[in-house]
Amino acid sequence: MATIFIADYDFGDVEIEREIIERAGFTLSAAQCKSEDEVIALGRDADGVLTQYARIGAKAIDAFTRCRVIARYGTGVDIVDVDAATRRGIQVTNAPNDWCSDEVADHAITLWLAAARKICAYDRATRLGEWHWKTGQPIWRLRGRVLGILSFGAIARGIAERARPFGVEVWAHDPFVDELEMRQCGVRPVSFDELVAGSDYLIIQAPLTSQTHHLFNRATLRRMKPTAILINTARGPLVEDAALSEALAEGWIAGAALDDLEEEPAKQRDWRPNNPLLQLPNVIVTPHAAYYSEESIGLVRRIAAEEAVRVLSGRAPHSPVNEVARATVSSPTAPAVEHASIPDIALPASRIGLGTWAMGGMQWGGTDDDVSVRTIHAALDQGVSLIDTAFAYGFGHSEEVIGRALAEHGGRDRVIVATKGGLERIGDGLFRNSSRGQMFSEVEQSLRRLRTDYIDLYQVHWPDYAIPYEETAQALADLQQAGKIRAIGVSNYSIEAMERFRRIAPLASAQPPLNLFEQQALQDVIPWCRANEVATLTYGALCRGLLTGLIDENTRFEGDDLRKTDPKFLAPRFAQYIAAVRRLAEFARERYGKSVLALAVRWVLDQPGVSVALWGARNPGELTPLNEVMGWHLDQKALIEIDDILRETVHDPVGPEFMAPPERLHA
Ligand SMILES: NC(=O)c1ccc[n+]([C@@H]2O[C@H](COP(=O)([O-])OP(=O)(O)OC[C@H]3O[C@@H](n4cnc5c(N)ncnc54)[C@H](O)[C@@H]3O)[C@@H](O)[C@H]2O)c1
Repeated sequence: MATIFIADYDFGDVEIEREIIERAGFTLSAAQCKSEDEVIALGRDADGVLTQYARIGAKAIDAFTRCRVIARYGTGVDIVDVDAATRRGIQVTNAPNDWCSDEVADHAITLWLAAARKICAYDRATRLGEWHWKTGQPIWRLRGRVLGILSFGAIARGIAERARPFGVEVWAHDPFVDELEMRQCGVRPVSFDELVAGSDYLIIQAPLTSQTHHLFNRATLRRMKPTAILINTARGPLVEDAALSEALAEGWIAGAALDDLEEEPAKQRDWRPNNPLLQLPNVIVTPHAAYYSEESIGLVRRIAAEEAVRVLSGRAPHSPVNEVARATVSSPTAPAVEHASIPDIALPASRIGLGTWAMGGMQWGGTDDDVSVRTIHAALDQGVSLIDTAFAYGFGHSEEVIGRALAEHGGRDRVIVATKGGLERIGDGLFRNSSRGQMFSEVEQSLRRLRTDYIDLYQVHWPDYAIPYEETAQALADLQQAGKIRAIGVSNYSIEAMERFRRIAPLASAQPPLNLFEQQALQDVIPWCRANEVATLTYGALCRGLLTGLIDENTRFEGDDLRKTDPKFLAPRFAQYIAAVRRLAEFARERYGKSVLALAVRWVLDQPGVSVALWGARNPGELTPLNEVMGWHLDQKALIEIDDILRETVHDPVGPEFMAPPERLHA
């Protein structure tokens, strides 16, 4: 029987939910998870998950074994990684915002009036025996002042409507709402700067997004009027609390009223009131209670439970947050994975090969080995029969992870393991070296790390201009003779280099970069391979994530992520590539009902001469669209339209040359 798991709740009991869930024939389990690990430990095998504050991030989503729906108690879904859920075909639902919009608007007005009229200060003082109007001095008349609202969504409109009778002039800033619409509501549309500098009372009611996180920092607070009062009835992290404490203590602004703190206490198990804001007299704080009334809380509980039941019963939810392409979820009816052949390898290669660069744990912001192993298993279980790695991916770490995954999974003889060598580690750097001695020693080490006694395809990673190609080719021919490697390939080689190489050793494959944004190989390497019966394994089908459709202007790359220096991800080109992805996504959806990711991979597979497209995935969910890529083709007209889109959007193209490792240093 399907189980619905309540990850956390603060209602005292779950009887409302139980009634709905058990009546529908499902079982209920409930917990008080305060971390994603607790969600994983207790909810991994649930069919549906309800959450109030517990974070359901990509880690939990990837760990779920059968989850089909995540229902949020409330409207905001900032605690759920919706993209990760979509990739795994999990429906996310919320409550339409009118479940509590009256309550929040009432609360915002209450906080505003309480702060402006110094209600809490008067109350505290009178209880201590101070009976004087001066306690609250100065208090300014509301009439004629400016009340600014950040956002003009449902709640903000309710606030505007309630505020007007007090005689204030209402301003709002919302980049996504038509100015005319605001004017029709008697509200003046203003820029963010005008809002900040001109408001006497500023109510924050925008959702928490990467754009609004810490929007109220020192720089913003310094631009406000010294008499201004800031009210936050949205989410705590829109305000940088340390900056606000400073602003209030030093008089940059006069007061604040907050329904949440930056640390979001409701999401913590052992919260203590250590936030310095709680020591200041000119701050009012309520415990994220704006949404609460007896009516609203009952309603949101019913909505969440009913949405989960609806999805698990095969019905459409009333309030979906994401679009789940159910057809893309693995199913017995999904089209079979296509295959290609590689010379000297008996096993047919799936035309999608698993790329494992990120599994090396370096250059892509870090990875978790257990997740990598599960990703490899998921790929194999979905029919991927080729895994591509290299010593360079984490100085052998990626190979070790593959070795472990294959040992745990079994079926080594049904997998084509392709790895690469010819790059030598010196300190923390990699330098080209494909001398005979280097190739021999690297093959031995790769065999050990991969826990195997043969490598299906061994490739020279980059041409080494200091060593004759013939020397490298002879070394690999000898290793092939010895049975250590079955087929020989090269990567990033020119035609001239391949011509020389294959006079000495049989060349089974070449590995050039190829994707919608990096098409050079179609002019040289790929046609040559086609004419000479050399298989191609192309890399970078998703152009380092750009073509997933999940990267936009706000995406930030952390740590040693190589995209921090990739010219495609830097101004001025980044905006052009993002614009191209948007247009391509629109085209894919309208023309084929597909995602941009599926279009991008299909485009690579449909190029004559491409045998296998490598797809770099770091968690099982990222492979969900695999079936969406199989079993269809782009027609000639579509290929032309795609070229037009690229020409119109990318004016200043750049290739992947920045990735090339240096040659060896010579004294
Ligand atoms: N404190 C509480 O108890 C409580 C309860 C409900 C909602 N909220 C918060 O209030 C927020 C708004 O709720 P709603 O029902 O009005 O949502 P809504 O979706 O109706 O409106 C949100 C508005 O914000 C605008 N917006 C988005 N990004 C913006 C930006 N960078 N600058 C300015 N405006 C921006 C959107 O265009 C939209 O008009 C929620 O996301 C939630 O964080 C808090």
